Amino acid sequence: MLTIFLWVIIGLFVFSQVLPRILVKYFNYARPVAAVTGPILDSDFRRRLQPPQKIIERSGLKEGMKVLDLGCGSGTFTTFLARAVGDKGWVYALDIQPDMLKQLQEKLSRPENRDIKNIELINSSADELPFADGSLDLVCMVSVLQEIPDRQKALKEVKRVLKPGGVLAISEVLADIDYFLKSTTIKMAGGAGFILDKALGGIWNYTVRFIKPQPIFGISPDNRGLKCT
Ligand SMILES: C[S@@+](CC[C@H](N)C(=O)[O-])C[C@H]1O[C@@H](n2cnc3c(N)ncnc32)[C@H](O)[C@@H]1O
Repeated sequence: MLTIFLWVIIGLFVFSQVLPRILVKYFNYARPVAAVTGPILDSDFRRRLQPPQKIIERSGLKEGMKVLDLGCGSGTFTTFLARAVGDKGWVYALDIQPDMLKQLQEKLSRPENRDIKNIELINSSADELPFADGSLDLVCMVSVLQEIPDRQKALKEVKRVLKPGGVLAISEVLADIDYFLKSTTIKMAGGAGFILDKALGGIWNYTVRFIKPQPIFGISPDNRGLKCT
């Protein structure tokens, strides 16, 4: 009986944790997580794994910033970002799945969040961002990048919409089946022309901060061969 129980546990672990990681890593399997997971993502347990305050500190968010919560999901971090940027700041909460945005909308209508007036919900895709060039200060991507099939295209879109000197903060948590190592994230963002600023946190959960390079003497950074190291 005990042996069967152990095999069931091992089977469940392989099915839920090992198999998806192999698919993501070796078969470039990338698709949005089902919207039914919204309540799990936006739970206190999840926030213990990835505390919002840590995401905010590590991202370098400041009051008054225009921030994009890219792949906001059910809004686990969106309300925290909105409060941190304050009245003069703005948060765009963008997701490809309307059902995720519905959950965020419902969250914002709760009495405890009615004071928040600086969030705009946007249903769109990471590889076609509905923002003007150089219009944002900070883009936060929490547990999102690996769900996007064409990551380079999405990262280049992020670079386009950031101001020169603007920040891309990518956060990952090991418990996520789409988790990629810090070094892989750094390589991917480097490929899109970002400059590595800081890598913070350990293997369990980390944030890597990148900068969109500034033009020097009018020469576009894309022509200067700057890369992450
Ligand atoms: C694992 S969830 C994380 C949600 C939220 N950032 C969090 O940490 O709780 C990933 C989210 O990214 C969204 N997503 C996946 N691919 C996307 C894309 N190409 N464009 C925009 N959002 C996308 C999914 O719909 C999902 O809501």
